[in-house]
Amino acid sequence: MPFRSLVRACGAYLPQRVMTNDELAARLDTSNDWIVQRTGIRQRHIAADGETTSDLATVAAERALASIGMTGADLDLIVLATATPDHTFPATAAKVQARLGMRRGAAFDVQAVCTGFIYALSVADNAIRTGQAKRALVIGAETFSRILDWNDRGTCVLFGDGAGALVLEAVPDEGGSAARGVLSTHLHSDGTGYELLYVDGGPSTSGVAGHVRMEGHEIFRHAVQRLAEVVDEALTANRLKADAVDWLVPHQANRRIIDAMGKRLGLPPEKVVITIDRHANTSAASVPLALAEASADGRIRAGQLVLMEAMGGGLTWGAALVRW
Ligand code: UT7
Repeated sequence: MPFRSLVRACGAYLPQRVMTNDELAARLDTSNDWIVQRTGIRQRHIAADGETTSDLATVAAERALASIGMTGADLDLIVLATATPDHTFPATAAKVQARLGMRRGAAFDVQAVCTGFIYALSVADNAIRTGQAKRALVIGAETFSRILDWNDRGTCVLFGDGAGALVLEAVPDEGGSAARGVLSTHLHSDGTGYELLYVDGGPSTSGVAGHVRMEGHEIFRHAVQRLAEVVDEALTANRLKADAVDWLVPHQANRRIIDAMGKRLGLPPEKVVITIDRHANTSAASVPLALAEASADGRIRAGQLVLMEAMGGGLTWGAALVRW
């Protein structure tokens, strides 16, 4: 019998320390006004010394599992999206697996930077659809603060740390877009944009972790175009129109990009989940953090149609449609 992936639970974790725009303005040539007007960011969370991506991921995962009375022993797959792993290898997912007490199945990382969560969701959904996994944990977790050049105002004001997790469970696929579960995922990449957003380090180049480098304006232009395309692709694949969407849960890179997407879909602002003001851009963690927040506060409810989209380094972009 074919299966589809039902979203059973969400969890989130943000480091305790909050850094405001004014703190950045005190040591950089920037201002709260510029950051708010150009990006919508007011503050970001920053991991404590010694607090790693696996620490953030583990807490988010534990919260998701605890909310439905599950433990790691109930899982047979972990797919963790990150561009900031604890170590070059093994996968950060392996550390999370051990901490959750999961001793079977598989745990691995995927790397698609800010699109990482959509990629991870797609990989886990495919494993469930084919019967390879029954209960999967999909995590987006990042400590971007560790790879920022804190003297580059064009990038360091934009990012924050955090983690979000989703538990997926195999259910019989009743078919159609009215039945609950992941309806479809859509992944894209174009490696000719590699140098528009990259980290100038890595094990095979310099041997050090390096720092984020970005052609912000070019990335912005690509984001608006590519996200519009992939959102249309997701709706068309399910024979749905934009007015069927209950919630747009976008990657949180820039408020202006998010607003442009909401407008293009004809969605009123109250149907778009926004966290960028408080979280900044948490890369692969932004979509699951937003999902966790909006489901915990009762906005996203069972049976509603949730459209997720993201764009990031690679270049990569993607979308997912989920009947919650
Ligand atoms: O998550 C992965 C995907 N990432 C994104 O989608 C990010 C996409 N890009 C963006 O969000 C925007 O391009 C930024 C927020 C990064 C920059 O906004 P922008 O409106 O594209 O500004 P810009 O890069 O064209 O720069 C405009 C001016 C420049 O000054 P001049 O050359 O006009 O004198 C920058 O040097 O703003 C200056 N600037 C700043 N000023 C104050 C750049 N960063 C800052 C800053 N504070 N932090």
